[in-house]
Amino acid sequence: MLIHSAVFVKSSPSLKDCPSPSLPEFAFIGRSNVGKSSLINMLTGHSKLAKISAQPGKTRTINHFIINDKWYLADLPGYGYAKVPVALRDKWVKSATKYLTDRENLVLVFVLIDIRHKPQKSDLDFLDFLGMNQVPLARVFTKSDKISASASEQVLRLHDAAMLERWESLPPSFVTSSVNAAGRDLILDYIEESINKFSNPH
Ligand code: GTP
Ligand code: MG
Repeated sequence: MLIHSAVFVKSSPSLKDCPSPSLPEFAFIGRSNVGKSSLINMLTGHSKLAKISAQPGKTRTINHFIINDKWYLADLPGYGYAKVPVALRDKWVKSATKYLTDRENLVLVFVLIDIRHKPQKSDLDFLDFLGMNQVPLARVFTKSDKISASASEQVLRLHDAAMLERWESLPPSFVTSSVNAAGRDLILDYIEESINKFSNPH
């Protein structure tokens, strides 16, 4: 898929504020500093797109972008493990949970994981939460330029093994770098295929 246009739509505190669910939607989520803004900018080819919605302070919002006038990209702040005051964190977890389980046009959630880290409980718990709620997901391993190919193979094996302790099969996985655009075409093609399946389920 070629990207012709990528436009910020709005920031929404909760599901009820989100744009009308008229287009297929793909959400991106991950711990703080995992490289989410960089990945969104890399995918869309807009070097400052994800910063447009950057909120001052610790406000947590779901940020929508419309891509090619055809699909929504939703940027979700870190889930559960964000460095925010507990009260706000609980509120945000509730909002994000409701969005993830009830957003009717949500096709898939990309869960970002830093490829330099071994499997972390919070990431595995989050993947389990999506699985239990039957939310389709894919894993995106970020910052692959920071370690060697053999080191990333090793970490990926650990992540797969950790998931297979609880899952029968593995979700799609992508290895990416915002520095050298690794994984870009594969993710964009996967999104395009998923849109086609979503629009023509038979
Ligand atoms: P917050 O929104 O602050 O939670 O972070 P984020 O997940 O949006 O991460 P961001 O894209 O801001 O990147 C965090 C840091 O990692 C920045 O210093 C980036 O330059 C760096 N970074 C992100 N992606 C990559 C990558 O693929 N390779 C390398 N080498 N650095 C990266
Ligand atoms: Mg960011």
